[in-house]
Amino acid sequence: MKNNFYITTPIYYPSAKPHMGHAYSSIVADFFARFKRISDYKVFFLTGTDEHGQKIQRAAAEVNKDTQQFCDEISSNFMALSKILNLSNDDFIRTTEKRHKISVEYLWNILEKKNEIYLSKYSGWYSVSDEAFYSENEIVTKDDIKICKSSGSKVEWVEEESYFFKLSKWENKLLEYYKENPDFINPQSRKNEVISFVKSGLKDLSVSRKSITWGINVPSQKDHIIYVWLDALTNYLSALDYPNTESDKYKSFWPASVHIIGKDILRFHAVYWPAFLLAADLPLPKTVYGHGWILSNEEKMSKSKGNILDPIEIINKYGLDPLRYYLLKEVSFGNDGNISEEKLENCINSDLANNYGNLCQRVVSFNEKNCHLKIPENIKYNNEDIEILDKFKNNYNKLEDAINKQDINFYMNFLINMLFASNKYFNDQAPWNKKNDNIRLNTIIYVSLELIRKISVLMYPIIPDTSLKALSIFDIKEKEIKFKSLLNNEYLKHGIQIKKINILFNKIIHD
Ligand code: ME8
Ligand code: MG
Repeated sequence: MKNNFYITTPIYYPSAKPHMGHAYSSIVADFFARFKRISDYKVFFLTGTDEHGQKIQRAAAEVNKDTQQFCDEISSNFMALSKILNLSNDDFIRTTEKRHKISVEYLWNILEKKNEIYLSKYSGWYSVSDEAFYSENEIVTKDDIKICKSSGSKVEWVEEESYFFKLSKWENKLLEYYKENPDFINPQSRKNEVISFVKSGLKDLSVSRKSITWGINVPSQKDHIIYVWLDALTNYLSALDYPNTESDKYKSFWPASVHIIGKDILRFHAVYWPAFLLAADLPLPKTVYGHGWILSNEEKMSKSKGNILDPIEIINKYGLDPLRYYLLKEVSFGNDGNISEEKLENCINSDLANNYGNLCQRVVSFNEKNCHLKIPENIKYNNEDIEILDKFKNNYNKLEDAINKQDINFYMNFLINMLFASNKYFNDQAPWNKKNDNIRLNTIIYVSLELIRKISVLMYPIIPDTSLKALSIFDIKEKEIKFKSLLNNEYLKHGIQIKKINILFNKIIHD
């Protein structure tokens, strides 16, 4: 098995300011990417912006801007956000780039050549906001306005000549594929909604529009624009040099390991995307993970409610790592989660300042006073020492499996338990009472330093900056962080000098 890992975020519509939901998808993907890197995988982590279609065309027109210029400006906000979030993405793709256009045109031509696409006429409902076609039974009327039941967005009637993709033909193949690949759709709880959608009967999909101008033209018929979702989904291939399937990137990373997406775009990723790929005779991604919503005060964020959470505001107030930690811990991965500043402050005070930060400070200053900032040499473990150190070794495979199943909750629980247990260990062992027993005192310090090191390795995918600060105690650099070092209970070299560090987190105190 090749140790290659390809993970993607959705490519974001640059029609709005980035909000907390966008930040969430990205931080989650970054967590997996970083974990796989320290597990010696060759990783490719992709994010970007989805810039074509009617939604963007209208948004640009509303502010009287040239569409390309509008995209350039707003895409740069997302690029800036990826830096602010400390994402370790290997590429940032924009669907207005030439490399992407080449890739989409190529895929289209294959589908046409294989007779998977035909010209006909579309009449039905379309939501510009979702860039999606809906059937009559997915529509309700509310205050005289037709809206889509599940997304709540307004739909309009469309009637025009259109190319169709033979989606109906793939119904059984898709159902078979879901059955044979139980991890294709995760979490498992979302699989049923996809399966019942497919079972209810797939209609051929309209994949071109004549009434819009902003997008990639159908190569053989320039007055048609390729449907924005067929265009957008292909970004996952464009970033790997597709159609050059001989390129290193394509050969190393396709099929994708995980597409991280929100639950609202599961249909596109778990039905349309695999159908396009099957039709083009390309391999299918291994997993599509549909995460839940980030709620603002228990409600879905929306412009009209005025409750849009701005990640940058939160980061300016609390710092990036507290936000990353909070999102990964407090949002049970797969479910909806609420952001509240109160809970965020609790996380900072309890887990990060009182536990993680405090452990590092206490152990290092105790070492300074008693061992002159040297890693102790003469040590002798007792059962309690071995027991706590072995917890990491004993859970090593479980942690790895959890990540392979996108079970962030298991990982976080383990880490938090170890964090609390390590503080308790230091308290209970009370090395300040062992000043007459040098070996015991040395051993407690050694074990505590090992615990800090192991915890910091596990913290790296969550809060990379802080983890690196903590690991600078031992002069461990980013490239040297290895998940497999958790198996080693005596990684730290005896007699070596360590460094003091500044406080990792300040407690939030309200007066
Ligand atoms: O859907 N909580 O882009 P997008 C959690 N361009 N996630 C949220 C969220 C929230 N409140 N709001 C949005 C698109 N998201 C397409 C994707 S991929 C080939 C094309 C998530 O900017 C949403 O579920 O509307 C999606 O995964 C991502 O943000 C981008 O949403
Ligand atoms: Mg959206």
